[in-house]
Amino acid sequence: MINNICVAGAGTMGSGIALCAAQNGFEVILFDLNSQVMEKAINSIEKNLTSLLVKNKISLEEKQSIFNRIKFTSDIQDCRASLIIEAIVEKITIKTELFNQLAMINTAETIFASNTSSLSINELQKNIPNPERVVGMHFFNPAQIMKLVEVVKANKTDDKIIDKIAAVCKKLQKIPVVCIDAPGFIVNRVARHYYLEAMKLVENGIATIETVDTIMEASGFKMGPFKLMDLIGNDINLSVTQSLYDAFNHETRFQPSDLQIKKVKEGELGRKSGKGFYEY
Ligand SMILES: NC(=O)c1ccc[n+]([C@@H]2O[C@H](COP(=O)([O-])OP(=O)(O)OC[C@H]3O[C@@H](n4cnc5c(N)ncnc54)[C@H](O)[C@@H]3O)[C@@H](O)[C@H]2O)c1
Repeated sequence: MINNICVAGAGTMGSGIALCAAQNGFEVILFDLNSQVMEKAINSIEKNLTSLLVKNKISLEEKQSIFNRIKFTSDIQDCRASLIIEAIVEKITIKTELFNQLAMINTAETIFASNTSSLSINELQKNIPNPERVVGMHFFNPAQIMKLVEVVKANKTDDKIIDKIAAVCKKLQKIPVVCIDAPGFIVNRVARHYYLEAMKLVENGIATIETVDTIMEASGFKMGPFKLMDLIGNDINLSVTQSLYDAFNHETRFQPSDLQIKKVKEGELGRKSGKGFYEY
């Protein structure tokens, strides 16, 4: 039975996943190498819990016990758990290296889940011991709120692992949807054009950022594409576009936009850096 989870990476996604897991009764280890990011994650988790307390959704005792269920660490030796969910940088070599380090200090039964938005789980499985326990677990941002989790089955993933991950998702009060490993899985493949076409409209001088966001929100989308890109992080969003562009043999429909490349070069990553398409 899975009752403890190690979340590797305490950035935008990792901090939300750790909070969600602690809120739903799991013992959590939150690991990041960057002390500034960790500080930010601690503050953001504390702020989220305070907001729930103020709204009378949790008691002071619950707030304390949820917070106490999370062990914050920068020491990889602490990362021993029945399930590891990685939410680190979107680079397959770095994710592979981390899983291999974690494989050395965990048992062969420990499940390795990747929150990757666009990398191939089949590729990830290739260089990790016991690949049958490697699975995709793709949360959406903000992870403590959004209900969907794409559970990604790669060629070697054991069906029993898929069942266990689906059960964990339910305990997290999420809706698991099992997908076959394919570029962008389902949501990111469909959503690519929500971002890319919006950026083309702006690049071609047809509409402003604000107009596109206003119209899309008025037509029923919860967030306009530019606000959503700022929430996701322009660096992360560009990596996803680039992965799909590569996976589809450079089909122009997936070509990264000059606008997003410029944003990343200038460090305008979105909410996390204080400026993206908008200022925060
Ligand atoms: N941002 C989104 O909206 C979103 C949504 C779904 C999935 N994802 C995926 O989640 C993952 C993380 O994205 P994010 O937006 O949270 O990124 P982020 O940049 O906010 O955080 C990544 C964190 O990983 C840490 N890190 C890097 N290498 C590490 C290592 N070897 N060990 C431990 N920590 C390490 C960094 O210090 C950083 O804090 C990516 O794979 C991304 O594709 C992102």
